[in-house]
Amino acid sequence: MVLDEELDRAAAVLRQGGLVVMPTETVYGLAANALDAEAVKRIYEVKGRPATSPLIVHVAAIEMARSLARCWPEEANVLAGRYWPGPLTLVVPKRPVVPDVVTAGLDTVALRMPAHPVARELIRRATVPLAAPSANRFTQLSPTTAEHARASLGDQVDLILDGGPCQVGIESTVVSLTGDPLLLRPGMISLAELERLLGRPVKTVSKVEGPHPSPGLHERHYAPRTPLLLLKGEPLPAGRGAYLYWSRPQRAALQISMPATAEGYAKRLYEELHRADAAGLDWIAVETPPDEPEWWGITDRLRRAAAK
Ligand code: TXA
Ligand code: MG
Repeated sequence: MVLDEELDRAAAVLRQGGLVVMPTETVYGLAANALDAEAVKRIYEVKGRPATSPLIVHVAAIEMARSLARCWPEEANVLAGRYWPGPLTLVVPKRPVVPDVVTAGLDTVALRMPAHPVARELIRRATVPLAAPSANRFTQLSPTTAEHARASLGDQVDLILDGGPCQVGIESTVVSLTGDPLLLRPGMISLAELERLLGRPVKTVSKVEGPHPSPGLHERHYAPRTPLLLLKGEPLPAGRGAYLYWSRPQRAALQISMPATAEGYAKRLYEELHRADAAGLDWIAVETPPDEPEWWGITDRLRRAAAK
């Protein structure tokens, strides 16, 4: 549990340019004052993240989001009205007050109002928007507990707030509204839901070719150290491994039965991958999830984790 005094201390650390690990409903974030370029530079250093990969800015109120956006299209109102606070990030044109280091030089900014009460209260007390990528070293598995973040970043951060295990479990859905709506990163808010709400088709970016509209979406990402394979009914490889399945069990050194609903599966995915990775096995095999829209965010993370 996060205490009142701890929140005050964390808010003070942020105002002074420090780094705080904060819980959100998706994954834990490594937060800094988004308006302080020096503080944001430290995020990149601590994560080992390339400067070409822009950050999401977390806000506690719509007015805070609008104060960072050069324009706020009607579709942003519709999407934020339905999904904020929650696991949806909106990319809109930025105002000059947002430092270039936050957006990797792009003239757009990614904004999200997190649903986790600790994150929202932290932003309120800090009184500034918070830039926060996932609280792990670059290309490693995202953290869904404070312990995961501590193991990855440890003493390189000023404070870690423990808000319990994340309830959504995979990173937010990212939608660009700088032109026709474009899904940059699938998540637990499905394409079908977005299209229904907006009443028009939403394009998707699935393959990176040429300059990417979302430069942080590297092919290999979210990966455990142990090689990960996505299986479609093939037998398990030789050697000792972990097998994550949702429908058909197979005998493995570590057999992990996953929930058969997308929501339940997402919530446990990183926790189980962290556990399997820590077991020091030869491989982690994963049964390919169902090919249905609500599973696309999960399949996207697994595909990236399996990429060489
Ligand atoms: O759920 C989440 O989104 C978590 C929590 C902490 O909020 N954060 C997160 O941050 O996943 P990160 O840094 O791991 O991923 C940020 C994503 C990347 O795919 C990046 O390309 C995209 O957001 N992004 C950020 N700013 C952008 C921009 N201006 N234009 C396009 N894509 C942007
Ligand atoms: Mg990340």
